[in-house]
Amino acid sequence: MENIRYDEKNKQLYIIDQSLLPNEEKEVLLNTAEEMYDAIKALKVRGAPAIGICAAYCLYVLSLNIKTENSDDFYSELKKRADYLNSSRPTAVNLSWALNRMVSAANKNSSETVEYIRKILYEEAKAIHSEDIEMCLRISEFGLTLVKDGDGILTHCNAGPLATSRYGTALGPILLGTERGMKFHVFADETRPLLQGARLTSYELYKAGVDVTLICDNMANTVMRNGWVQAVFVGCDRVAANGDTANKIGTCGVAVLAKHYGIPFYILGPTSTIDLNCKTGADIEIEERDPEEIKKKFYAKPMALDGVKCFNPAFDVTDNELITGIVTQKGICRPPYTESLAALFRE
Ligand code: MRU
Repeated sequence: MENIRYDEKNKQLYIIDQSLLPNEEKEVLLNTAEEMYDAIKALKVRGAPAIGICAAYCLYVLSLNIKTENSDDFYSELKKRADYLNSSRPTAVNLSWALNRMVSAANKNSSETVEYIRKILYEEAKAIHSEDIEMCLRISEFGLTLVKDGDGILTHCNAGPLATSRYGTALGPILLGTERGMKFHVFADETRPLLQGARLTSYELYKAGVDVTLICDNMANTVMRNGWVQAVFVGCDRVAANGDTANKIGTCGVAVLAKHYGIPFYILGPTSTIDLNCKTGADIEIEERDPEEIKKKFYAKPMALDGVKCFNPAFDVTDNELITGIVTQKGICRPPYTESLAALFRE
């Protein structure tokens, strides 16, 4: 099953509902703007690149129901729908990046008929999707140069095929290397509170035949101290111009530990996740989620009394000085990131 599938014949968009994994592998149809917004907000589709790809198809599907033949009116209605989808989650820049690409493609063709602009939107959504497949493969190839057969790799959250299109970013080198007969021992942090590591990373790696061991987030220190981890690979939701990187909550703690034990800590992500408009991590908006997720999600009974306060930020920022390298589809950036990241966009 593909995580995001556009059925061209019936003009319908389906996603695998990631919130049901690993117990249920179910496709759901995204028809209305509200269903699409909810799918992103409720993490039915999640992971920065996958959110971008899905949002692009969503906007195309919504464009089919804009009832006008006037191109200017069509554009302003399209923009409203893009703004609505964009408000679903704030941190992963791929969401606004993909929607902006779609809206600009429409804008560039504003003198054309509505039918033609819809065709352009479909081509743009397909391009965002297929480019991501290519990017993941290139990231995986570059990432593979950083590890050797037999290495232990620790990862946090899920940056695998479900979060992208194919291979993934942080899991890409592991899956590609495995296909080529290499063996890795992967430690997957469960990733509280929404358990992307337990529910999705261990699921993807186990199914791919990778030797994966699930650990609670607070066990990362122990496996590192034991000498079982030779590299940390994680994804990213937004990389600032100076290399400060927002990723799933808990990532920064892993980076601090890796530094303590002298283990290289790598961020893997496409250039679409780099946001040069954010000078530093302080400029990145961090999503705060419903505090009840901490007490109630995935538990049969609430794990704290009613009235106990909870703080539930979905991401944290890892300072650039904790990051050994940032692996993109264009190559591996090294410090100082202000220079190496800017160079990616000059090429
Ligand atoms: O809240 P999520 O599950 O969307 O968070 C996902 C992550 O933090 C991933 O590491 C990141 O988006 C990279 S996915 C290739």
